[in-house]
Amino acid sequence: MLDATTSRLTWLGHATVRIETSEGKVIYIDPWLQGNPACPESEKKGRKMDAILLTHAHFDHLGDTVELARQHKPQVICNHEISVWLESQGVENVVGMNKGGTVEVAGCRATMVSADHSCGLQDGDGIVYGGEASGFVLTLPDGFRVYHAGDTNVFGDMALIGELYQPDLAFLPIGGHYTMSPLEAAHALKLLRVRRVVPIHFGTFPILNGTPAELRERAAGLDVEVIEMERGGSWGGGR
Ligand code: NI
Ligand code: MN
Repeated sequence: MLDATTSRLTWLGHATVRIETSEGKVIYIDPWLQGNPACPESEKKGRKMDAILLTHAHFDHLGDTVELARQHKPQVICNHEISVWLESQGVENVVGMNKGGTVEVAGCRATMVSADHSCGLQDGDGIVYGGEASGFVLTLPDGFRVYHAGDTNVFGDMALIGELYQPDLAFLPIGGHYTMSPLEAAHALKLLRVRRVVPIHFGTFPILNGTPAELRERAAGLDVEVIEMERGGSWGGGR
């Protein structure tokens, strides 16, 4: 396991994460910017990006993908069903994949992993089948491994993610209601055997009421650093 990375990880509020790699590439995970009440004003337009990773199709994760893809032409990595839908919207450079698969993207390796969540895709007034929700394990150019869990409940096979990929840092949802709350997230830390966690997907709306303080309390017996980032704040980048 690594204690630091030369890439910069930035939390843009809710589940939106930006990674600026040590090689100067930019990856957005679940880029929900314009409509995201937790995204800092200065970040709402998005920057030039090389890749977008999508954990699932819910609006707060698919976010501004269609517009951003038209503007910046990034590679878009997502499940097969979302990839077909994105192509129907005129998005290019889409790479559809599924769980267990790994793709090279922006100098990193992205492995799609399981999540326990739904994935309906809002299309006009209805919902169409969007495949299954997922998470990603991203291996950065310096070998540092980031796990973005997407939206998920805790599940026993998080132990497999820990065994197979040994992530150095995990972005985990803790808000509750649609995802894990701190109770489940603390157990996820045990299963993953990860030593560093950035809590996400809380506080955006009042109903997402899990807090980093509660996670810290529930994870007290574990050897885990709870990194409480500011929205727009960063970790890594040679620190
Ligand atoms: Ni969701
Ligand atoms: Mn969500």
